[in-house]
Amino acid sequence: MGAAMSKTPPRTFHVKSFGCQMNVYDGERMAELMAAEGLTATVDAASADLVVLNTCHIREKATEKVYSDIGRLRKDDPAKMIAVAGCVAQAEGEEIVRRAKVDVVVGPQAYHNLPKLVADAAKGEAALDTDMPVLSKFDALPARRKVGPTAFLTVQEGCDKFCTYCVVPYTRGAETSRPFGEIVDEAKALVDAGAREMTLLGQNVNAWSDDDGRGLHDLIRALDRIAGLARIRYTTSHPNDMTQELIDAHRDVEKLMPFLHLPVQAGSDRVLRAMNRSHTRDSYLRVLDRVRAARPDIALSGDFIVGFPGETEAEFAETLSLIDEVRHAQAFSFKYSPRPGTPAATMDGQIAPEVMDERLQRLQEALNRDQLAFNKASVGRRCAVLIERRGKLPGQMLGKSPWLQSVHLQTDAPIGSIVEVELLSAGPNSLTAREIPSPPVSVAAA
Ligand code: 5AD
Ligand code: SF4
Repeated sequence: MGAAMSKTPPRTFHVKSFGCQMNVYDGERMAELMAAEGLTATVDAASADLVVLNTCHIREKATEKVYSDIGRLRKDDPAKMIAVAGCVAQAEGEEIVRRAKVDVVVGPQAYHNLPKLVADAAKGEAALDTDMPVLSKFDALPARRKVGPTAFLTVQEGCDKFCTYCVVPYTRGAETSRPFGEIVDEAKALVDAGAREMTLLGQNVNAWSDDDGRGLHDLIRALDRIAGLARIRYTTSHPNDMTQELIDAHRDVEKLMPFLHLPVQAGSDRVLRAMNRSHTRDSYLRVLDRVRAARPDIALSGDFIVGFPGETEAEFAETLSLIDEVRHAQAFSFKYSPRPGTPAATMDGQIAPEVMDERLQRLQEALNRDQLAFNKASVGRRCAVLIERRGKLPGQMLGKSPWLQSVHLQTDAPIGSIVEVELLSAGPNSLTAREIPSPPVSVAAA
């Protein structure tokens, strides 16, 4: 590959992650790896000898951002070492080296080799690794260090679903589940390092399974037994992998938070078929019925794509009516973005950008309406809040409700503690609350 000039081996580094939560997790692990090699993390990219751009390929905009970032970094400091990691590295490989001057290219399944690649690049040697080894990269990573009150834990990677718009099966590879014992050990290490809430991550997290026939519900029940862990979440799930056992865990496991991110993408069966989603509008809604029966207060979240090739106005209206039916607590919505190598990119009936803009606006109006309604319906409720950070005002802290809402409150409770509150007021993106003083410890009468 390109630049064959040797460079001074870097002493400082900065990892910048884009895109999904799994990239955040991978970014943390790369930072731990470089720190274990004796490099020091900097607070920003400008002051680092080595910048790792941990990239996202899901939509065109995310990919283009990488190239503009590389250009800016190069212009500011031509001597800086730049490593491109993540899904753009996997998808574009050599192409990145051709388009932009970077020193290292490393895919999401190969980042345990980052120190070696950086050393090679310093010697002026080619440093590209986009292999998807059978051997688990996790075995080669150092132990978890200090973390905040909330932690991500990757339990499953890759996807076999091949939705026709999506690059994930190509960039992250086939569905693979990490071994049960390894996950439980990492969870314990994270709790020992300060985590109180764990979010189990996977592109298809509810497809997690092992050779002993265990499923995600077994993992959740195992984590439930870790003293010191207070909250469990998981994301992202596919509707077809919502087993009854997992739904039952929402009823039985107190630490499992009443929140479910379950993307549906569209409300029309014709569009769902063209997307190769392998579920229908009705089968999706019936899954939600069962989840709500198990956990009536569950907050529902989802992902939506507008303007999939061939989507008619009437089909788009079916997505709006599905939203009316579900009443999501929150959701993410995107304009369809054709991705190289995916079947949908060459389908007939690509939708004009202005039609997509207009549909996205109507969709987001409906979702915003429901999010505000969900938050307003929470006012007056009492719940536990996990304190995550300081607020802007003196004495103000920010935390999360069980339903993943941001909550502001005045409290002396430190970061990482869980306080009982009454929710007082609600806006579209956050709520305010007052702390309910814990009942005085009763002094046993003699
Ligand atoms: N265009 C637009 N949105 C996409 N997503 C995945 N691929 C595309 C694409 N090509 C969205 C889906 C998915 C979320 C992570 O990103 O809604 O659930
Ligand atoms: Fe992509 Fe999710 Fe479909 Fe897999 S299930 S192909 S990750 S959208």
